[in-house]
Amino acid sequence: MLKPQPDVTMSWSIRRANEADADMLAEIWLAGTPHAGGNDQEDPGISMAEAKAFMLGRIRLPGPEFGVWVGVADDDETILGWQSLRPLSDHPLVRYCSAESSTYVNEGVAPRGVGPRLVEHVVLGATRTRLEHIVAFIHPDNAGVLKVAAKVGFVRVGPLPALKWRPAPEFEIYAYPVGR
Ligand SMILES: CC(C)(COP(=O)(O)OP(=O)(O)OC[C@H]1O[C@@H](n2cnc3c(N)ncnc32)[C@H](O)[C@@H]1OP(=O)(O)O)[C@@H](O)C(=O)NCCC(=O)NCCS
Repeated sequence: MLKPQPDVTMSWSIRRANEADADMLAEIWLAGTPHAGGNDQEDPGISMAEAKAFMLGRIRLPGPEFGVWVGVADDDETILGWQSLRPLSDHPLVRYCSAESSTYVNEGVAPRGVGPRLVEHVVLGATRTRLEHIVAFIHPDNAGVLKVAAKVGFVRVGPLPALKWRPAPEFEIYAYPVGR
């Protein structure tokens, strides 16, 4: 279960996720997914088993560039949120150049600054890897993550092109230049 409203002043740390975290990470992901595409989206209907498999796939990504990081309360080890980086392309020549970022914070915690601290930790850590850009696909109605992206220093690259049947862009591309 997601833990409601921990103490605002709690101290917490960031570590790499391990496979034992997968259930909790999946739960946080499923709770946040309807909000990631704007704020009034339908439940996408992803099962817990699919969500867990998705998280395990990310946790098992090889290399220092990629994987999942978690924010954990120091007192009782409640997982407050997670941040992942995965390769944007599997092409061997560019696999290590660009990563896609995803950030999901436990609904019982947000907004307490967990998201920006997780993202910042991971983009700063990326300076010790081969990564050049960290890319995020952000829905223009997702006000919370837009604030996080601005706080951390992501640059708006632009919208994906409109479609005949959907003139407003569903997602916009933001990028953090690791090698600037
Ligand atoms: C987006 C998310 C990661 C932000 O994490 P967080 O720990 O809450 O980040 P913060 O505490 O810095 O709060 C973000 C800011 O957005 C604001 N905010 C949060 N949700 C908001 C909303 N629905 N509408 C308007 N503002 C919102 C907060 O008040 C805060 O504002 P402030 O910086 O002026 O205080 C978290 O809300 C989340 O997990 N959302 C669901 C999943 C998601 O959308 N992930 C991103 C996919 S690209």
